[in-house]
Amino acid sequence: MQSIPEIMDQEMGRAFAAAGYDAALGKVSVSTRPDLSQYSCNGAMAGAKQYHKAPFAIAEEVARKLQDSAIFTDVSVVKPGFLNMNLKNEFLAKYLEEERTAEKFGFEISKTPRTVVLDYGGPNVAKPLHVGHLRSAVIGEAIKRIVRYHGDTAIGDIHLGDWGLQMGLVITELKHRQPDLPYFDDSFAGEYPEQAPFTVSDLEEIYPFASGKSKEDPEYYAEALENTHLLQEGKRGYRALWEQIMKVSIADMKRNYARLDVSFDLWNGESTVNDLIAPMAEKMKKDGYAYESEGALVVDVADPKDPKEIPPCMILKSDGAALYTTTDLATIEDRVEKYHPDEIIYITDKRQELHFTQVFRAARKCGLVPQETVLTHIGFGTVNGKDGKPFKTRQGGVMRLETLIDDIDAAMLEKIRANGEIPEAEAEETAKTVALAALKYGDLSNQASKDYIFDVDKFTSFEGNTGPYILYTIVRIHSILTRYQAEGNEDIERLSIRLPQSSQEAALMRDLAGFGAMMTDAFTNLAPHRICSYIYQLSNDFNSFYHGTRILSEEDAEKKNGWIALLKLTMDILNTCIQVLGFSAPDRM
Ligand code: ARG
Repeated sequence: MQSIPEIMDQEMGRAFAAAGYDAALGKVSVSTRPDLSQYSCNGAMAGAKQYHKAPFAIAEEVARKLQDSAIFTDVSVVKPGFLNMNLKNEFLAKYLEEERTAEKFGFEISKTPRTVVLDYGGPNVAKPLHVGHLRSAVIGEAIKRIVRYHGDTAIGDIHLGDWGLQMGLVITELKHRQPDLPYFDDSFAGEYPEQAPFTVSDLEEIYPFASGKSKEDPEYYAEALENTHLLQEGKRGYRALWEQIMKVSIADMKRNYARLDVSFDLWNGESTVNDLIAPMAEKMKKDGYAYESEGALVVDVADPKDPKEIPPCMILKSDGAALYTTTDLATIEDRVEKYHPDEIIYITDKRQELHFTQVFRAARKCGLVPQETVLTHIGFGTVNGKDGKPFKTRQGGVMRLETLIDDIDAAMLEKIRANGEIPEAEAEETAKTVALAALKYGDLSNQASKDYIFDVDKFTSFEGNTGPYILYTIVRIHSILTRYQAEGNEDIERLSIRLPQSSQEAALMRDLAGFGAMMTDAFTNLAPHRICSYIYQLSNDFNSFYHGTRILSEEDAEKKNGWIALLKLTMDILNTCIQVLGFSAPDRM
């Protein structure tokens, strides 16, 4: 379906043209003076220069052409030449009726579906997930769902940090602690045990221990480097042990991501592209893009047009080791080869911006991606505590993701219990559902690039711009519809939307009519926060309408049925939006 802004611009453009002016002047925007009108157009002011005519006169001529408009009503001209107008109720009702029955509420999906690889999550094997991993997972999942809703193919790849020194450190420490394991016996030729010789908690203790020790003990550090090297060369026992570390660590990650309702199509990692690195570096050298500088292999990525100075991108260190940039470049090569993506989107902390600038430029320069493949980095801000500093535990330690989820679950459970609406048996499940909304909405409602304050009290509140408030609105509508149905009324799907009876109802209807334009905007800008602002306004406008209207006790069946249809559309659109954002509503709360 054509979106409301498109229809309005078209109608206004037609009026300008009919009055003898450039149709492009007819751009309509939401009025900044809602007390005067819903929409306005300042095209006459721009036209005044072009046509050497008073803007007021132009506006009046255009207004005359809108006298019989099927879309606008109450068209007026105010000094010095603004056009103010409202949307016609008949048009609004007809539009919503069409939207109600259209696929995806008439949202224009991709005509030529693209393939998009999304790189998000990015946890490191053998290290616990912490608060720093929250945003990549939550924003990445939402953007993946937005892309899918748009009808494109989205491939989510977790891109594990599973190959560097951290693996060598864990192997080294295990060797010190359990030297008799077959993994360390070079003469061992049999099958390695199925059971891992450690648990995930062991790993979480081993890694920081080994990392700390390597910083104090140069010999230990050298050993870890050597072991990393041997692992990457393919030493049999180390590979087998690495597989065990991966297995144990990934199982734990899956459990954590499941709690966030975040999932991945690919569980690839830095290790996936190990074998691509040497030939890639070789080719870069051969093609003349990479050269040696102080023993290291580098590619220049400075751009004379860019005032920012971007240092050369290092491909191999002087000892021949690969870096973070190297695995990212090889991963681009791998993704292009396997999935032919039209775009690759990375969702990481914004402090990695320089890294991605270097990687993207090097990838283009060295021809790892076709020119038309779009490379996008979405950098997000920090999750802060109420003190404005990065969020920590009360003791000042790193906040584990698991603890953070536990805390918000517990806070939500307390509120749900205090409300007393939910039987105890259901309370825990309901609390988890609402807590996830609190957590994700608390994050996604902020523009990704901005820092935000993690505030459990605020996030779990049933009032204000929060996830629970949105869910509460959905639950409220759901309960009205259930009661309506229980009273033995008509099938809700068959009810049509009618003319609005109040200004509150018309405002709600305009919100609903704006769904398609909003979704297009969220997609074009890869901006989940636009969906959040939309559902907040929609919920507010719904609740104002609801408080001013006695729906179920309405005697006029036609009126009542029209409202029920409107409620159903409101609920469906809210549910669609939260589904795209990555959470859901309970039946009651
Ligand atoms: N593992 C990385 C880190 O902890 C994040 C990976 C992000 N993705 C990427 N392709 N570089 O910082």
